[in-house]
Amino acid sequence: MKKIQVAPSMLSADFANLAKDIELVNQYADIIHLDIMDGVFVPNISYGTPVIQAVTNRATIPVEAHLMIVEPQKFFREYRDFGISSISVHYEACVHLDRVVNQIKELGMKAGVAITPHTSAYNIEHIVTVADYILVMSVNPGYSGQKYIPYTTQKIAQVKSIIEKNNPNCLIEVDGGVGLSNINEIAQAGADVVVAGNAVFGAENPADVIRKLQVTL
Ligand code: DX5
Ligand code: ZN
Repeated sequence: MKKIQVAPSMLSADFANLAKDIELVNQYADIIHLDIMDGVFVPNISYGTPVIQAVTNRATIPVEAHLMIVEPQKFFREYRDFGISSISVHYEACVHLDRVVNQIKELGMKAGVAITPHTSAYNIEHIVTVADYILVMSVNPGYSGQKYIPYTTQKIAQVKSIIEKNNPNCLIEVDGGVGLSNINEIAQAGADVVVAGNAVFGAENPADVIRKLQVTL
């Protein structure tokens, strides 16, 4: 039996009252998801070092960083020192992805490889043998509150079969447009962890949504 882990994305949190939302996530969720954007790899800028550190200082559950930036390796050591336990980098942003993934692991963190919607699942066939998780983006990275792209479900299943063949320890994380209406198909397709921004922080009862997303299979 497996239970889906839920990683609320702080991009949808109330930045004027961040402490309150961190406490909520600490209490009910499994992982804190930080979306780091540089306005170069993606058309948006999210937040930088002071905000990241403010979150890690208050977090009592693991914090993961999703780096939607070019040259992500510049920040690995700093984020590790803040207490971040997992970092995902984009397949599309790293020319020497194998080297970058190994740099994360050498610093003692878990390494994830994120793929945008247009990237074929088959591109992860080799990197999956060194990665700890594959982050399948189900929206085009850059913004929270977007609609789930339906063909992602088939891609999750393809990633799952590649993982089973090449490195069964590698997990699948799904990020973008995840909510109560599609959690079952995402879980069935092979997700282990789901990221949810708008579905959690836009809800009247975020704790209840987190609980409902933590489906058991
Ligand atoms: C998009 C980010 C996601 C996003 C999730 O670029 O990587 O983590 O904020 O937000 P929702 O769940 O609202 O799509
Ligand atoms: Zn993300």
